[in-house]
Amino acid sequence: MKGFLGIRYSLILMLLPLIVIIIILTSLFSVLEARSAMTLLANRHLAYKSEELRDFAYSEWETIRTLGLEENEELKGIVEESILSFSRSLLRERSESIYFFDSEKNLILELTLESSGSEVSSNLDMTAAGFNPGWTSFSSDGEERVGILFEYTPLDWYILFSDMSETFFSEIRNIQKNSLIILLIAIAAVLILTPQSVKPIIRHVEDLSAAALDITENLDLSRRVERIPNDETGLLAERFNSMLEALQQSNVELEEKRREEQEAREAAEAQEREALFLLSRISDIRDENTGNHLKRIGLYSQHVGKLLNLPAEEQDVLLHAAPLHDIGKIGVPDAILLKPARLSDEEYAQMKLHTSIGFELLKSSRSRFLREGGVIAQSHHERWDGSGYPAGLKGEDIPLYGRIVSIVDVFDALLSERPYKKPFTRDKAYELIEAQKGIHFDPALTELFLANFKIFCEMHRDN
Ligand SMILES: [Fe+2]
Ligand SMILES: [Fe+2]
Repeated sequence: MKGFLGIRYSLILMLLPLIVIIIILTSLFSVLEARSAMTLLANRHLAYKSEELRDFAYSEWETIRTLGLEENEELKGIVEESILSFSRSLLRERSESIYFFDSEKNLILELTLESSGSEVSSNLDMTAAGFNPGWTSFSSDGEERVGILFEYTPLDWYILFSDMSETFFSEIRNIQKNSLIILLIAIAAVLILTPQSVKPIIRHVEDLSAAALDITENLDLSRRVERIPNDETGLLAERFNSMLEALQQSNVELEEKRREEQEAREAAEAQEREALFLLSRISDIRDENTGNHLKRIGLYSQHVGKLLNLPAEEQDVLLHAAPLHDIGKIGVPDAILLKPARLSDEEYAQMKLHTSIGFELLKSSRSRFLREGGVIAQSHHERWDGSGYPAGLKGEDIPLYGRIVSIVDVFDALLSERPYKKPFTRDKAYELIEAQKGIHFDPALTELFLANFKIFCEMHRDN
């Protein structure tokens, strides 16, 4: 899970801004709606009171006018008092004020709940709104106010029923404050709940990921995703399981094939070794040696390879290739090979050819055993001092396998009985081999062989 953000966080990052934007927009629209609704209500409230006052004032004047007493100054004073008295009764809040202006638009009277006297203390600034009847806003002693103005023609008055903007919009501010609190709570809830709501979507993907990781680490193809939800991730899980099923099946088939191939290879190798041994026997049937001589040459050579710490594969090559050392004798005429008397120089030269014949016979074989057998056939009569045949090679120019077979072949001949000789004693054989160290045989190999002489003697005895 390293190196990337993960679907969980990608989803959260994708969902969160969307939800928060929706909440903020909803709140904003609610507040705006509430604000216009409240403004309308407050407006109506002011308008209602203002209307009442206007109706009352005109009805008072209508009564006097009906009686034809509009010129009576005393009655005018009564009407004024009556209007002021009614005005006071309309005041309910400390923030409400009723202003009376004369025809010159000078403030002549100010009524509030507290100061219902006639003193004019306020410093009104009506310049902005003017004296147009209807809704107006203005400032009084630095305070923002709103109100509804109407003209009262009988007395040449302008009457303004007003309230403080502060009070007027206080309800709206409360709504805004509450909205903000709800908004913050909603955002906090979203922050907490979104990761929770994303969890079920992610869980199945995480199941898949865990299964894939498990399979990679433990190479266990029998693993399956357990939870299969009824959605696209479920489809993915089903395909994943089917893929594993197929992989497991082909793995079983592959294993079966591999086992069959292994068996076939082992059988072929066994046949090859058997054929090798039979091949080496061809030369021997015409010679005085027995099959056991060849078997022992293989065993001794293998053991020398082991003492030299050669790889197991090379020890195996020595075991099977060394018995082929005299295969070339099939090319030597019986008259020479089986001659009971000493060979003439010419006959001996022909006899020596068994080395090259063996090499020619085997050198191009596809089998490594046979090719190495050819090398051994060619080099097992070379001598360390260079006096051997066929090439007169010297020292380490002689192939190692040839140097090995050279010692063990002589050793086996010394300890074995022949029609013309008794076997040498072990001590004598030891002596004769030691005497040839550095002359006939590789000195290091001779030392190694003699250091383990007893083992080789036992191998001769037991085989
Ligand atoms: Fe030989
Ligand atoms: Fe031999």
